[in-house]
Amino acid sequence: MEDKTINSINKKTNQPQSEADQPVLEIWGHQPLTGEINVSGAKNSALAILAGTLLCSDHCRLTNLPNLVDIGRMCQILSALGLKLNRHDDILDIDATHISTSEAPYKIVSRLRASFFVLGPLLARLGVAKVPLPGGCAIGSRPIEIHIKGLQALGADVFIEHGVVHATVKGSKGRLKGAKIYLDYPSVGATETILMAATLAEGETIIENAACEPEVVDLANFCNSMGAKVKGAGTNTIIISGVDRLHSTTHDIIPDRIEAGTFLVAGAITRSPISVFPVIPEHLTPVIAKLREIGCEIIVEDSRRLKIIPKELRGVDIETLPYPGFPTDMQAQFTALLTICDGNSIVTETVFENRLHHVAELQRMGANIKVKGHNAIIRGVHQLSAAPITGSDLRASAAMILAGLAADGKTIVQGLEHLDRGYENIEEKLRGLGAKIRRLDSLTREANLVGV
Ligand code: EPZ
Repeated sequence: MEDKTINSINKKTNQPQSEADQPVLEIWGHQPLTGEINVSGAKNSALAILAGTLLCSDHCRLTNLPNLVDIGRMCQILSALGLKLNRHDDILDIDATHISTSEAPYKIVSRLRASFFVLGPLLARLGVAKVPLPGGCAIGSRPIEIHIKGLQALGADVFIEHGVVHATVKGSKGRLKGAKIYLDYPSVGATETILMAATLAEGETIIENAACEPEVVDLANFCNSMGAKVKGAGTNTIIISGVDRLHSTTHDIIPDRIEAGTFLVAGAITRSPISVFPVIPEHLTPVIAKLREIGCEIIVEDSRRLKIIPKELRGVDIETLPYPGFPTDMQAQFTALLTICDGNSIVTETVFENRLHHVAELQRMGANIKVKGHNAIIRGVHQLSAAPITGSDLRASAAMILAGLAADGKTIVQGLEHLDRGYENIEEKLRGLGAKIRRLDSLTREANLVGV
């Protein structure tokens, strides 16, 4: 098995290229799909858990780690903080015995919002942390005041200067103190920041109105496997009893429910019966419920495999909400699907303020869809027509691929720098189902094809 050092992990953190040179995906639509598609480890669980390895004054091993640009960037951050990393395919060994600096490098942080997750663990481990503000992105301003308020409640002095968050623990002992914290919004990231910081605090911390996402539960399970005492993860009230030190562990990352959901929609939008494996079905409850309401049969096979059998598809209404509500990370994919379902649909995005960019691209493919405030108003059409389209963020890019799979003709999808952040080898996986999809080095050069 190839032994990858930190440099090879970084090869996926490709530098931005000029428009003409950027790779694109070429998709020929109307291909029926068949077979089973593999789901990788969960990006949003892995990113928080990678930050959580800073809490451990020993070695950790993570398995089922997805091979994504975002994971590569987070590994760069940890390496810059002095940790020793060594990767063998989907296994990553991390030695966090020594942390050489409390300051995360702006150059990498500015390219990965999730690197902000290192703030809580650094503060808990060292008593001090400096992390550049993550900044906004295409889907919203992405503020972090709930994170900051939580750390201040745990006894940290926090101020922001020149775009950097400076945090230090008050008092001589340099140790955070447990507190009761109510979150103004069940923020996933803020819940994870506070949970991680509280594992090494003195005394008990109660987080109320906490996020319930499966990725929060996976992080809590990871921390508990290192000797932390976290109870109630997955509910709105999480109780953490601080401990002095965390020890070595091995942790298997949960399957990515959003990747799995994206593939289920690929089956629905091409009206193809396909299977998706491995999954944790209960993580997909709202997605399964909506697919059934739209007109797909969903069968749970041997507890970790889902099969989708599309029937007559009809429009439905969707409102994104914090878990266990319908996930915002599946909104773009379902919006693409609903454009070819019979009847009318209304998709309401309540989690992020700017997550309907994909509507304009779907309009270019002939979808009858328009935006009114936070709502996408959809009237189903018989079929989409292929066109050159661009994904503006990670999940919008996935939605463009789904639309291309259903469209009549050849679709060219640009914006792969977003896609590669969150989907591992998506074109190879879809080709395995029979999709006619390939990655071209650029709009001008021929395909650099592997295995087609
Ligand atoms: C996580 O982002 C995920 N990212 C997102 O996935 C996901 O969409 C989001 O949770 C919601 O499920 C990772 O886990 C790396 P939030 P996060 O804090 O933690 C507001 C993807 O496509 N808010 O729950 O940043 C915020 O502006 C990505 O994989 C504040 O106002 O999400 C947003 O409107 C996209 N103040 C809402 O809460 C704060 O201090 C939800 O954000 C924090 C958040």
